[in-house]
Amino acid sequence: MTIVGAGNVGATCAEVLARRDYCDVVLVDIKEGLPQGKALDINQMGPILGYEANILGTNGYDETAGSDVVVITAGLPRQPGMSRDDLVTTNEKIVGSVTEQAVAKSPDAVVIVVSNPLDAMCHVAKTASGFPKQRVFGQAGILDTARFRTFIAWETRSSIKDVHALVLGGHGDQMVPVVSATTVGGVPLTKLVAQNRIRQMVERTAKGGGEVVELLGTSAWYAPAAATAQMVDAVVLDEKRVLPCTAYLEGEYGIEELYMGVPVKLGAGGVEEIVQVDLTDDERAALDASAAAVRDVVRLLGS
Ligand code: NAI
Ligand code: 2OP
Repeated sequence: MTIVGAGNVGATCAEVLARRDYCDVVLVDIKEGLPQGKALDINQMGPILGYEANILGTNGYDETAGSDVVVITAGLPRQPGMSRDDLVTTNEKIVGSVTEQAVAKSPDAVVIVVSNPLDAMCHVAKTASGFPKQRVFGQAGILDTARFRTFIAWETRSSIKDVHALVLGGHGDQMVPVVSATTVGGVPLTKLVAQNRIRQMVERTAKGGGEVVELLGTSAWYAPAAATAQMVDAVVLDEKRVLPCTAYLEGEYGIEELYMGVPVKLGAGGVEEIVQVDLTDDERAALDASAAAVRDVVRLLGS
């Protein structure tokens, strides 16, 4: 495994994967000492928690050669008042450059993009890698769905384990929590919670990233890192999990040549299938609006 970017999300993802104990991780960052120091610290947690995964920190790519999965978290995070999309120009350069360097050493890898603006950065990584669409995709939907599930569990005073939900669309304020596919213990959410409360939870989910930025002064990392690790699990362990991920659409959901969050089957080959779920007319309209918002950001890309 390679993780590029040893900041909050990258290093926490390395830590989560170390605890899984099925792979070694190379952590790459441009800042000297940072990946080395974080790797050393994570290695030294192994004897306490009982894992044997080896984490290696480096400022170059030689040590990453032959990775099965490359996770891209390099780039600037959001500051208060910034949208995810404000990061586009800076992060385009960083994501393009680190993707080229990483895939040169690991030509058979699956690439998972985390850097924002997520949907646009997936386009950058696809172009920079030259990989087929199945092997380049992004993390957003698992995080966004986890936020929605958290609010629903609190609202219904139910176990988080029994809340099933789905958030589709771009990783922006126009994301689409699919209420029609949301259940608690098999009971539709609409039978348990009043419409106005559902609307509030949908809105809080869509603005979930910004809520953390306002509190912390930078963006979230615990849930994003765990979400990314869940995708790595699905690929490395060939789990065939059906998870919301940012995948390249060529006609699915009526959307052409655009990265968007949709349910996919994830396994050793990366995105092995795009799963189509039925949407209500309102949800379909919201997905189209979200696609339009993603296209607006993709148009800002230089490449
Ligand atoms: P951070 O600032 O803690 O870490 C980013 C790291 O990237 C820094 O250590 C920096 O030195 C490194 N970096 C910058 N340029 C580099 C280069 N050319 N080569 C190698 N490393 C380089 O930021 P954080 O919080 O880890 O966020 C990382 C990215 O992930 C941001 O773009 C953020 O917006 C995004 N993000 C995406 C989420 C999602 O759900 N898709 C959720 C949370 C964050
Ligand atoms: C998040 O949703 C900022 O994309 C980041 O927390």
